[in-house]
Amino acid sequence: MSEQSVDLLTPVLTRNWGDERAWKLSNYERVGGYAALRKALKQTPDELVNLVKDAGLRGRGGAGFPTGMKWSFVPKDNPNPTYLVINADESEPGTCKDIPLMMASPHTLVEGAIISSYAIGAEHAFIYVRGEVLHVARRLQQAVREAYSAGYLGKNILGSGVNVDLVIHSGAGAYICGEETALLDSLEGLRGQPRLRPPFPAVAGLYASPTVINNVESIASVPCIVDNGKEWFSSMGTEKSKGMTIYSLSGHVKRPGQFEAPMGITLRQLLELAGGVRDGHKLKFWTPGGSSTPILTDEHLDLPLDYEGMAGAGSMLGTKALQIFDDTTSVVRTTLRWVEFYKHESCGKCTPCREGSWWLVQILLRLEAGEGVEGDIEKMLDLCDNIGGRSFCALADGAVACVTSAVRYFREEFEQAYHTPAWELFPYGRSALFASSKEGANA
Ligand SMILES: Cc1cc2nc3c(=O)[nH]c(=O)nc-3n(C[C@H](O)[C@H](O)[C@H](O)COP(=O)(O)O)c2cc1C
Ligand code: SF4
Repeated sequence: MSEQSVDLLTPVLTRNWGDERAWKLSNYERVGGYAALRKALKQTPDELVNLVKDAGLRGRGGAGFPTGMKWSFVPKDNPNPTYLVINADESEPGTCKDIPLMMASPHTLVEGAIISSYAIGAEHAFIYVRGEVLHVARRLQQAVREAYSAGYLGKNILGSGVNVDLVIHSGAGAYICGEETALLDSLEGLRGQPRLRPPFPAVAGLYASPTVINNVESIASVPCIVDNGKEWFSSMGTEKSKGMTIYSLSGHVKRPGQFEAPMGITLRQLLELAGGVRDGHKLKFWTPGGSSTPILTDEHLDLPLDYEGMAGAGSMLGTKALQIFDDTTSVVRTTLRWVEFYKHESCGKCTPCREGSWWLVQILLRLEAGEGVEGDIEKMLDLCDNIGGRSFCALADGAVACVTSAVRYFREEFEQAYHTPAWELFPYGRSALFASSKEGANA
């Protein structure tokens, strides 16, 4: 990695990840942890909301909604309690930032949760963790216990008169429970399915009370804003996408992992940090923010990875999960795998998503086998037209984004699938990262 490319990194949330037992309270305090909480408790809740608003922090869960503005929607005259719910469901294929953050430095999130609860007037906060990651739930529980013992959580925090209780809740491993209203149903003990809006959660969320739902990285970004100020945060990034953020690179790169950099860095720069695409291969396609975001190609290497840059290219920044696929990968096979995931995770509440994703898989299966029939591409696009924007929640939009964008850039490959199987055009073993399979050995 050249010195110039290292300069592109801005480790803030990731700065202590490599420290010895960084997850322990004493080690977090040693690097300045909980100083932001002390500072925040001397300010009024309104001052904190305005600070986060003026810093320009936008939600890191995918949609990029301004965090401070979301906080300001909480009604002040509602007699019910206000809740903070932190979305730690992280199940989007390719996305891998919240889990490493919670494993390496759970106190960054706990401190953010306390400050954010105080700012919105909540005395109860929840972290809803993806069910499969038991190790993460345990690490968070341990951090919460330490924070209670140190007087950072509970009644009369650090003598300020502020009370905050924080509960870690594990889900049962359903992608749909990352959708904020399905998450609320699941947290209430119901089957996780999206709710009709309005009312929006800010007015009637958890237990029909005012609720703010934010992503892990959004809340973990609050302490550093309190510590360093709004000008510091907004000096990083681009005009409308401020601050630093965690980009995750996976797939056909030499050094996959998390790279914290200012909003607006390009994939070309990130690839340099990640050691580039595997030797002897070139980039074929990539996702900017997980499999729900339309794929892009090597034409888009120099676009800013921010909300506007990705929207301008017909995609979305999403979770900044950059999945990199080189020229050994079948776009037909990859699209099938993604759509199989959405079909499996569809909660079944509405017909276009439940039935449409099933039919998409049937067509893609025969295309992968080289048994496509004339008109299959048009039929798939027609199905996408009847699913995207016509379903109850955004899971369905994500399910069709990979299909429409794959056809947009690689139509010829889909046409080849009328007569040649994907495994002949792109043998598994060549694209596999771990060549332990029979196909790998034969490649
Ligand atoms: C199917 C689906 C899954 C989602 N999964 C997550 C998730 O795992 N984590 C997350 O923070 N947001 C997820 N979201 C987005 C949330 O609904 C919500 O926008 C987000 O938690 C708001 O936080 P933010 O404003 O801090 O970004 C998902 C949305 C959909 C439609
Ligand atoms: S779009 Fe899919 S996941 Fe969302 S409510 Fe409808 S069936 Fe459920």
